[in-house]
Amino acid sequence: MNTALELKNISKSFQEKPGETLVALKNISLEIRLGEFFIFLGPSGAGKSTLLRVMSGLEKSYEGNLSLSGEIAKSDFSFVFQQFALLPWLTVRENIGLGLMSRNLSSADRNKRVSEELKLFKLEKFSQAFPRELSGGMRQRVGLARALCTNPKIIFMDEPFSELDSFTAEELRQDLLKIWNERKMTIVMVSHNIEEALELADRIAVLTPLPGRIEKIIENSLPRPRNKRSPDFYRLYDELYTLIKP
Ligand SMILES: Nc1ncnc2c1ncn2[C@@H]1O[C@H](COP(=O)(O)OP(=O)(O)OP(=O)(O)O)[C@@H](O)[C@H]1O
Ligand SMILES: [Mg+2]
Repeated sequence: MNTALELKNISKSFQEKPGETLVALKNISLEIRLGEFFIFLGPSGAGKSTLLRVMSGLEKSYEGNLSLSGEIAKSDFSFVFQQFALLPWLTVRENIGLGLMSRNLSSADRNKRVSEELKLFKLEKFSQAFPRELSGGMRQRVGLARALCTNPKIIFMDEPFSELDSFTAEELRQDLLKIWNERKMTIVMVSHNIEEALELADRIAVLTPLPGRIEKIIENSLPRPRNKRSPDFYRLYDELYTLIKP
């Protein structure tokens, strides 16, 4: 199995006040496999967002080593955040096209790419709407469409569904799985929802707080589409719950 991204002994501290250091991450080593759906699961404050920021290059000061597969460049990265992070003064179409602005594309090609994502995410009717006119679910559809518009090889997602009601979240998870199946990109996602992690991920790393470190990595080989009522699903749920519970 090829490696997309490798972390060796990653540690990260924050200087809270002079003389007070908070160790957010301690000696994290792991390999993200090319094309896999990888989830970091852990309670609030475990360092999940910090780790994702380090891995994705948003956080530049850390200790340890991070190496990227030769097949992937930083420009192949994409991000989806919990707070939809849309620009309120741009329309849906313009927001989705943002990531393409730095690419060397003609405006016709850019429009074509955006139109494809609008269609895929059932946003065509809203292409000229502004973010404030959309429901939370719609806004996150725009967030996903924007992230996918550049055809990324790795997408980093920080709790992308946690602000949504459970029905909308479930619908978006299904959409994401379908797209992941078709495009075969690598997904690295953060979650604090055990059921969500089991529904989506190939592997789940359980992070424990203070300092954040990997307690265990679980292979989730449940057949897809996953049956949340199956005994194997419950068994893995219990295993994860036991690892995470305070
Ligand atoms: N910029 C910062 N400056 C100082 N401390 C920080 C900073 N960012 C994070 N921390 C601290 O690092 C620890 C890990 O934070 P992080 O946001 O990574 O956790 P998390 O697992 O993502 O939590 P949540 O589930 O609430 O999003 C916390 O104790 C947090 O207060
Ligand atoms: Mg976080």
